[in-house]
Amino acid sequence: MTTCASSVSKKRLLLGITGGVAAYKAAELARLLTQEGIEVRTVMTKSACHFVGPVTFQSLTGNPVYTDLWETNAVNNMAHINLSRHVDMILVAPASADFIARLAGGMADDLLATLCLARDCPLIIAPAMNRQMWENPATQRNLSLLQRDGVRIIGPASGEQACGEIGMGRMLEASELVEMVRTAFQTGGLLQGKKVLVTAGPTFEAIDAVRGITNKSSGKMGYAVARAAVDAGATVTLVSGPTCLVPPIVDKLIQVVSAEDMLHAVQAEISQIDIFISVAAVADYRVARVCQQKIKKSDKKLSIELIPNPDILMMVSSLPEPPFCVGFAAETEDLEKNAELKRRKKNLPLLVANLAQDAIGSDESELILLDGAGKHVLPKASKMEQARHLIKHINSLYQQ
Ligand code: CTP
Repeated sequence: MTTCASSVSKKRLLLGITGGVAAYKAAELARLLTQEGIEVRTVMTKSACHFVGPVTFQSLTGNPVYTDLWETNAVNNMAHINLSRHVDMILVAPASADFIARLAGGMADDLLATLCLARDCPLIIAPAMNRQMWENPATQRNLSLLQRDGVRIIGPASGEQACGEIGMGRMLEASELVEMVRTAFQTGGLLQGKKVLVTAGPTFEAIDAVRGITNKSSGKMGYAVARAAVDAGATVTLVSGPTCLVPPIVDKLIQVVSAEDMLHAVQAEISQIDIFISVAAVADYRVARVCQQKIKKSDKKLSIELIPNPDILMMVSSLPEPPFCVGFAAETEDLEKNAELKRRKKNLPLLVANLAQDAIGSDESELILLDGAGKHVLPKASKMEQARHLIKHINSLYQQ
């Protein structure tokens, strides 16, 4: 088993809270972080104080709460420098659209923004906002800038929002953020400097102008793996088949349709890559002759000839100098036996096996990691959590 939660006590974290309804979740977050043994210092923006009071955080963390850039009690009147100098990480949760914009612009117009600017520790932000604010090109542009600047962005999740709308923008739950902080303290920078390529989602093989063959893969696992690799500091390229998901913020996103498109995208990137994680449910066959027009209905039987698709993972693992290759196997029966056969056939140092009927489309999965040393069971958990464990395991094998 690869799950571990070694102590992160004695670590110091600056918790930044900005204005948004999700600020109430930050109280639970402060409580859980403190319970982990982490020394939490809280900085709130003026807007955050409209949603929840500083006293709450003072009581939960046992430490003073800072709200003012012009705090006269701070040593040398330099609260901005002192506070960020003595922490191992800054976590801003919730991070509002306004705060993200100010951060992306390098502004220092309040205490929290100033601390983020005057830091030499990792900065992680957990965005929370209305779905239209999240989808707005300005917000997405700011997030891309921040990511390029090395800021880690976690979440948001999709779901019902305070305004009654449904969509992307919900801050991750406090327990998920704590898990992420724990992982970041344990694995932060684990894949720093590594280039990771992830394939995700299904492929779509056209039959005619409007029809095609695809499968039930949602892309959730592949997207979670890409996000976990970003969180671990890797430079990530995501090659995704058609999905309904909002993609994670990666360094390069290549959207494809068919297995052949996916193959070409992977071939174009692979020479740069250190670790290849093949999560996509690639169609094994495609239609021999795609009809350019819509096929008309008739009373006669219709046969479609299918020809094999290239095996992308096999192509990569057979390269003269392959990257570290990780495969996924979704099986409906004889899980371990079939998966281990697949691992050997494709010559993989690591293969992740799961039961197709349990995992496909679901938010949770149970995984079995098969490597040269045997099997490691990851009991049922969210795909994001599994992805983080997987990244840790990949790193430990990669280092050997
Ligand atoms: N894979 C691939 N290209 C293909 C088929 C599969 O890259 N044309 C990769 C998948 O991304 C996955 C692994 O191979 O990492 C195993 O995929 P899976 O569909 O479970 O198995 P197959 O090799 O297709 O064999 P089968 O369908 O017979 O189980």
